[in-house]
Amino acid sequence: MSINIVILAAGQGKRMHSNLPKVLHKLAGVPLLTHVLNTARELNPEKLVVVCGHGASEVKQSILAKDVIFAYQAEQKGTAHAVQQAVDLLSLAPTTLILYGDVPLTRPESLVPLLNQPGLQILTAQLSDPTGYGRIVRENNQIQSIVEEKDASLTQRKITEVNTGIMAIPTKHLARWLTRIQPQNQQGEYYLTDIVGMALADGVAVNSVNVADHWETLGVNTKAQLAQLERYFQVTKANELLEKGVTLADPHRFDVRGQLKCGKEVTIDVGCIFEGEVELCDGVVIGPYCVLKDCVIGENTKIEAFSSLDGARVGTHCKVGPYTRLRPGANLMDQVHVGNFVEIKASHIGQGSKANHLSYIGDSEVGERVNIGAGTITCNYDGANKHKTILEDDVFIGSDTQLVAPVTVRKGATIAAGSTITKEVSANSLAISRVTQKTIAGWTRPKKKRND
Ligand code: UD1
Ligand code: CA
Repeated sequence: MSINIVILAAGQGKRMHSNLPKVLHKLAGVPLLTHVLNTARELNPEKLVVVCGHGASEVKQSILAKDVIFAYQAEQKGTAHAVQQAVDLLSLAPTTLILYGDVPLTRPESLVPLLNQPGLQILTAQLSDPTGYGRIVRENNQIQSIVEEKDASLTQRKITEVNTGIMAIPTKHLARWLTRIQPQNQQGEYYLTDIVGMALADGVAVNSVNVADHWETLGVNTKAQLAQLERYFQVTKANELLEKGVTLADPHRFDVRGQLKCGKEVTIDVGCIFEGEVELCDGVVIGPYCVLKDCVIGENTKIEAFSSLDGARVGTHCKVGPYTRLRPGANLMDQVHVGNFVEIKASHIGQGSKANHLSYIGDSEVGERVNIGAGTITCNYDGANKHKTILEDDVFIGSDTQLVAPVTVRKGATIAAGSTITKEVSANSLAISRVTQKTIAGWTRPKKKRND
């Protein structure tokens, strides 16, 4: 079925109390409007038009997509007036679907039934509390009109079937119907809902599709509503993972802001956040309160509490954390152990190597079975440029060592604790660079001066 899609996104969102245009507020780490665009794209529209107004330039800048056409509504005179700004940009596709930039959770599957029938199709919902919504007025079960709450009689306000706002309109009638709409109502607005009367007058069928899950049609007007939708979205994601066999300590304390792919026997403790594209292979265990962004974690690796990983690749059977920070380009091979307060950036760490406590490893190439003692620092930055540290296989770095890059420590070499290494260390040697210890016997400590 070929269609046009128009997304209304001109509203200011006053009740968000924010300078950011409403549709750019994020749900699951992605702007509300992007959620709607992704849904729209699944339906393969011929034309995809976004009507913006408030913050139009910001909206355009944030949504850099070649497939989106922007229409501009300078003044918000109502939903019909908004659609009118898009009319000239549409193709002759038989149906035009209207979506809303602030209604993020609609699934494409729920929209398909609107597109499979001729006439005007309205997506409706049954709500126990219909306050604020346009009511669907029927006679002998046939839709007669949609009445906005502000224009509704007391009897009409008791109707619990509401207009979600989402509708599929026959394109060939759209322009004509829109020009006939008058702002004769309580709000003085051009109501898109008035096209129901015009369709009936023209003998065009008006039907409804009831949405099964009302969450799909909820809009965001306030931060509280945004938070509610976020929680709903996250619990849905958590349940999908539980369904696939992932162990989640608490589906209510779990957040995905992107794509999370999990293998078998994966366990995730409470309070973790997954951003961008994250893959957890079979048997991975993620401890509490970890943040993982754009990483791949190999089989049977354990990431312990409070670790933060961004752009890292971790091999199999590794132990990372607690309190480890892996930054972009951290590439850990199998059986690597990295412990508390260790930061690794743009470095390759060979199989079986260990840095268990308090280290900074940047721009380094670390071989296999290397032991990096507590407090080791690669001094990789001279204030202008970054330099490389190379530690070959089986190197042992004593605690509190500074490796002043560029520097290479050859195979099997040992660095004594407390050394500052500025020159290449040859294979199987011991390098020691610290002042020789002096011991002064019978030392008297200075006394504190009296202050009177
Ligand atoms: C509209 C419907 C109502 C429905 C409700 C569902 C009409 C007349 N009423 O009411 O039946 O129950 O949605 O939420 O259509 N917008 C523009 N330009 C405008 C006006 C609105 O882009 O000039 C956009 C807003 O940004 C918003 C959406 O359209 O995303 C809905 O507008 P809003 O003012 O919230 O409509 P409601 O009064 O809620
Ligand atoms: Ca609304």
